[in-house]
Amino acid sequence: MAKIKKIFICSECGATSPKWMGKCSSCGNWNTYQEEVISKPTTTELKRASWAPKEPAKQGSKPVLVEDIQTGQRIRYTTPDKELNRVLGGGIVQGSLILIGGQPGIGKSTLMLQVALKMDKARILYVSGEESEEQIKMRAERISSTPNNCYILNETNIAKIIKHTQNLEPDLVIIDSIQTLSSPFIESMPGSISQIRECAGELQRFAKTEHVPIFVIGHITKDGSIAGPKLLEHVVDVVLQFEGDQHYTYRILRTLKNRFGSTDEMGIYEMQANGLREVLNPSELLISQKEEDLSGSAIAATMEGMRPMLIETQALVSTAVYGTPQRSATGFDLRRLSMLLAVLEKRGGLPFAQNDVFLNIAGGIRVDDPAIDLAIVSALISSLEDVDISSKICFAGEVGLSGEIRAVNRIEQRIQEADKLGFEQIFISKYNLKGLQLEKYDIKVNSLGKIEELYQTLFT
Ligand code: TYD
Ligand code: MG
Repeated sequence: MAKIKKIFICSECGATSPKWMGKCSSCGNWNTYQEEVISKPTTTELKRASWAPKEPAKQGSKPVLVEDIQTGQRIRYTTPDKELNRVLGGGIVQGSLILIGGQPGIGKSTLMLQVALKMDKARILYVSGEESEEQIKMRAERISSTPNNCYILNETNIAKIIKHTQNLEPDLVIIDSIQTLSSPFIESMPGSISQIRECAGELQRFAKTEHVPIFVIGHITKDGSIAGPKLLEHVVDVVLQFEGDQHYTYRILRTLKNRFGSTDEMGIYEMQANGLREVLNPSELLISQKEEDLSGSAIAATMEGMRPMLIETQALVSTAVYGTPQRSATGFDLRRLSMLLAVLEKRGGLPFAQNDVFLNIAGGIRVDDPAIDLAIVSALISSLEDVDISSKICFAGEVGLSGEIRAVNRIEQRIQEADKLGFEQIFISKYNLKGLQLEKYDIKVNSLGKIEELYQTLFT
């Protein structure tokens, strides 16, 4: 019989303790200890649990020189989904374990099923512990009708899943989701820390020994981290995050960790009635089509990772109705907006303090690139003064505390993208001019040192 043992595990760092503690002594977080029941398997049970072929006892490894290590050609399967390939750094690496996290309803299952259905040459096993076979079939009918080689398995027991995978020998396995899996050798509930840890470990060993790539879907907790201990993120090779605003149709797939590529990549999708559509040219969608120029809107030449993207920013400044003026920002940090308003008030002498300010970034996309500052400042002044900015003008620059316009990275790419999309002028920091060959572009490049210069050029 297995011995029953109770322990407490920190859900943040995975530290264990025989007693409950308010504060984790290992990572310092409060209230993260959860009770877990562990049944310690006896040796016979352990033998039963190991699915891997028995290897003859190894001689033990010995140190090797880096130069002497033989590397095989790393095989990457390219998927039919260009955005996914980009995010993975060129395709799925053989034997890798890829975690894809996101809030419920964002489209994780849709994305994975869509990839599985589109890869008609490869044999794919889609394991779902969340939805029944009929539900998946209904979704598949919505997405695609082409013949494919995708098997569906409705199972949550990790040992059985691995058995089926060994029999079917698929080229790719998709697990939906890690929180529904359970190992028969652990007493605690599916989704608990020890279950997640055990199942992830088992999948990792399986992927590595059988050289099958595995996608694992994981849910996200309220504070935005992947549910389960941080440990899960250490175990896997790639962590992807699928995000977006529920009210908008755009979804962004970001790389948070990638052992085989860069983490600067991102993919953009649009959720449609028949699945997710790859958005290969985001700029054209994020700039609203309008006939006339309206005040309060300015276009920013931003970078999302390695990708240039032109995004429209909109501001509305109106006289405050209540005593305390309101500030609200969608897709932009509210504190940064307050900072920009303070700079405009103090350095530019513009009366924002008596006005309500609303800011919106098109498409429900969240932008952290500081180069968006200049466009936001322009949109704010434009709304305040009720002077429109031509939709053929865009901006790329960071605004500092003393009102100076600072240089931003990858300026050439930003100018190129704006040029390609037919913009007539771009405003950048004068500190960005060094080394730029302006003759190359059709677009007129204006350089600015301070926000006063911006005001004089555009609004007087
Ligand atoms: P889903 O993939 O189930 O989300 P997750 O697995 O991340 O929880 O996505 C569900 C949402 O996507 C749901 O609100 C309906 C919407 N949807 C579409 O708009 N079009 C489609 O073709 C599909 C399949 C789903
Ligand atoms: Mg799902």
